[in-house]
Amino acid sequence: MEDRAVEDRERIDKIIKIKQRLGNKLLILTHHYQRKEIVDLGDHRGDSFALSQRAARDQNARHIIFCGVHFMAESAAILAKENQVVQIPDMNAGCWMADMADSVLVERAWNQVTNITGETAVMPLVYMNSDAHIKAHCGRHGGAVCTSSNASKAFEWAFGQREKIFFFPDEHLGRNTAFQLGIQREEILVWDPEKPLGGNTTAAIKCARVFLWKGHCLVHTRFNPQQILNMRTHFPKAKIVVHPECTNEVVRQSDAVGSTSFIVKYVANAPADSTLIIGTEINLIKRLAIEYPDKKILPLFDSFCPNMYKINLKNLLFCLENIGKVNIVTVEETIKKDAFIALENMLNL
Ligand code: 13P
Ligand code: SF4
Repeated sequence: MEDRAVEDRERIDKIIKIKQRLGNKLLILTHHYQRKEIVDLGDHRGDSFALSQRAARDQNARHIIFCGVHFMAESAAILAKENQVVQIPDMNAGCWMADMADSVLVERAWNQVTNITGETAVMPLVYMNSDAHIKAHCGRHGGAVCTSSNASKAFEWAFGQREKIFFFPDEHLGRNTAFQLGIQREEILVWDPEKPLGGNTTAAIKCARVFLWKGHCLVHTRFNPQQILNMRTHFPKAKIVVHPECTNEVVRQSDAVGSTSFIVKYVANAPADSTLIIGTEINLIKRLAIEYPDKKILPLFDSFCPNMYKINLKNLLFCLENIGKVNIVTVEETIKKDAFIALENMLNL
């Protein structure tokens, strides 16, 4: 065996021993985009919604190790009980999309819109992929968090109470969801924080039903309709399934769209021998190809999230060897209280 493989084997053995010693006092949560070796060592794998639900309902674990990106660990920390400590193996595992919504700019945009429409006309909805300050802003104004697996439910909930929605920070998930609910293109405005009034007129703001913060995921916007056309030419019988962070042009030309858990189920339920082409992060696709050797599983394009990849055996072991001491994810109390409201509104949807 090469040196690297020997080192990894030793780390895996040490991680397993620590897991056995801590038993149900330890909970390792792994997002679907994690490397296979990390997912294999976790107690629960899932999409961002399932993992936040799991963190919220856990009664036993004193230590939650979140193998995912920072906003996910932060959400677990907001939902955690007082005696629970959440750690992330690499504090620098951020999210490009979450970084596109700065809390000062969000507050300014909110004030500008509600000065025109009146505050009671607009419901803030925030995608899980955002930092705690944005979730807190949403909670303070009566809104909810959502993920890609419950965005349409959240939109329906919001429209049940208010006339308009301001959705942060993923323009594409927001647009795909609005279209699913029959909102017309002309009723949707993109809010560009770098332009006065987000690049819109007062008249347009008064008429709009959905405001979309101009943010996106660099991993999912690498997919394009030409790649779909090429794949359909080479694999005419294949089914194409993509994540809703893709552009609407890509979603429209696919056979199915849904969260990472939806994609996992879609692959599991597909008949043997089928060809499935997937538009999401490459580590999930590679793992599915290993788990379902009876199906042909191909990426629409090889797109990789370097933030998710920051979590590895070395830093997971380091976290476990320093349980409760390093890389603890904390959230300021006042922010936590308001962000909790928005997360709880999502869990109650
Ligand atoms: P899911 O909510 O589908 O897990 O997606 C999270 C994410 O970051 C996708 O890029
Ligand atoms: Fe963020 Fe995109 Fe990575 Fe998901 S895939 S964590 S949205 S950068």
